[in-house]
Order: sequence, then C-alpha cells, then structure tokens
Amino acid sequence: MKIYVLNGPNLNLLGVREPGIYGSESYDTLIKRIEAYAKEKGVSVKCLQSNHEGALVDFIHEGFYERIDGIVFNPGAYTHTSIALLDALKATDIPTVEVHISDVNAREEFRRQSYIRPACIATVSGHGTNGYLEAIDLLLASQAEVAR
Ligand code: DQA
Repeated sequence: MKIYVLNGPNLNLLGVREPGIYGSESYDTLIKRIEAYAKEKGVSVKCLQSNHEGALVDFIHEGFYERIDGIVFNPGAYTHTSIALLDALKATDIPTVEVHISDVNAREEFRRQSYIRPACIATVSGHGTNGYLEAIDLLLASQAEVAR
C-alpha cells in the first residue's frame, strides 16, 4: 500500500505554533514518527507539506498519476474554505482520511465546517498528532475491507 500524508498551511510550524492547541512536537519529529509507523505497518509513505492551496491540489493530482492507495490529509485552514481541494479529491477518488490535530468541533464555529469531508472516508479530530497514525490504520482497514 502506497500513501501520501499531506499537510496544509502553518503545519510546518508545529511545535512552535500555539503549542497549547497543537502540542510541542515539531513537524520534522512528527514526520519521522509517521515514517517509522508506516514502515512498521508495511506502508510506503510520502509526506508533503505546503502553505499554498494550488500546491496541495497538485500533490493530489501527482498521487493520482502515481496510483497511490490513500491520503492522510490535514488541509489546515483550507479545510474550512477550499472547494478546490474538495474537487481534487472528488476528481481523483483516492480514499482519504481527514485529520485535525485539535478538536475542530470544540473550537470557533467556523472550524466546524469542512469542505473536504464529503470526499473523505473518515475524519480523525482532536487526537493530537497520533491522529495521523490512526488515519493510516483507517486506510489499511478500508483497503482490507475492499479486498474482502
Ligand atoms: C487544524 C485545524 C484547523 O482549523 C486549523 O486552521 C489548522 C489546523 C488541526 O490540525 O487541528 O491549521 O487542521
């Protein structure tokens, strides 16, 4: 199984950015943890981050042409604004798990809306950075389900 872990704007600042909300683990440490976990599970993973909406669209298209099996996706604030990301997920039909480090339903009202959610197989929100690992498990489980 081949997956992408995509992170959107400001997630490169993990560890520095509002640690009371997003924790103290740095982006680099998180990526190392994701890579180690994926290896343990026999999953090939490519982790990509951009602060730009169009670049995230391009990553999704790249994944489509590389025939990846799934995406773990934290689009950051674009979650709440981006029809382009929703359309990219719908266009490519790649099984995607939406991840939020914080509990988006327990924060400001505007964070409750996710434009990408209708194109995702599941959402993990409020489980801190461990949510990325849970999302990998959900993609594995959904693939096993499809194979059955
Ligand atoms: C976030 C939640 C979003 O509302 C916010 O804009 C982010 C991070 C999260 O991981 O909790 O940048 O996606």
